[in-house]
Amino acid sequence: MMLVEGKIAVVTGGASGIGEATAKTYAEHGASVVVADIDEAGAAGTVEDIVDDGGEATYVRTDVSSEADVERMIETAVEGYGGLDVLFNNAGTEGALADFAEYESADFDRVVDVNLRGTFYGMKYGIRAMLADGGGSIISTSSVASATGIMGRAGYSASKAGINGMTRAAAMEYAEDGIRVNAILPGIVSTSMQDRVARQRPDTTDRYEIAEAMPGRADPRELANAVLFLGSDLASRITGVALPVEGGFLLQP
Ligand SMILES: NC(=O)c1ccc[n+]([C@@H]2O[C@H](COP(=O)([O-])OP(=O)(O)OC[C@H]3O[C@@H](n4cnc5c(N)ncnc54)[C@H](O)[C@@H]3O)[C@@H](O)[C@H]2O)c1
Repeated sequence: MMLVEGKIAVVTGGASGIGEATAKTYAEHGASVVVADIDEAGAAGTVEDIVDDGGEATYVRTDVSSEADVERMIETAVEGYGGLDVLFNNAGTEGALADFAEYESADFDRVVDVNLRGTFYGMKYGIRAMLADGGGSIISTSSVASATGIMGRAGYSASKAGINGMTRAAAMEYAEDGIRVNAILPGIVSTSMQDRVARQRPDTTDRYEIAEAMPGRADPRELANAVLFLGSDLASRITGVALPVEGGFLLQP
């Protein structure tokens, strides 16, 4: 069953990991996909794979911390494909690893600029396009870090908790306009970000992996399936939620 046939979707961070898996999943389910990322080669690879499989996709270089870039990204969907039905604000960075007392302000600003401000820009211009197009679905990638205490990641934790707050606020504001706004909370997902984090701090990574009630790490496709559901009409009554997709991570006492 094609769950998003004919829909137009924008995926940020679509060059790798969860974003790449989601862009491909949406294309397999019949959507036209705009792949946005700073990694041009990676994003071009995602588009090539989609097109080789008979899907429809295009790439727009986007630094989500730049308002002008995000505005252009949304325009690419509207002008290239005729509208916007689904926006996946997923691009993110783990930022610096340091204890609070040593955490540099510039590092805090950088991670907040990408993860939180980038999601704000996405919502702002995505909502404008959806208002002009009869509604839509916005999904943003938060994290279990928004709901628990992750050590050494002040900026990351703050930015992800901020995404949950913006999600609830936007969901309230635009429910009557047919725009649904939700977030997903991944736990430990097998991506290049998780590999970097594991190399930086193997002690906590071991602990976090054990914290997932389900064994092993999630495959990015398992996250993509949740994003597919939230972006599809099957989720027509779901808005304002932060959906854990974390193998039971948040069940820990
Ligand atoms: N991997 C995990 O375990 C995990 C857990 C919780 C949340 N997340 C979140 O999932 C999202 C995707 O991460 P991933 O795990 O797939 O990692 P990833 O490194 O594979 O993918 C992140 C992508 O974002 C892109 N990106 C980074 N900064 C950008 C910017 N300024 N503008 C545009 N693109 C940018 C990167 O180029 C990359 O393609 C992130 O928001 C991350 O915080 C991941």
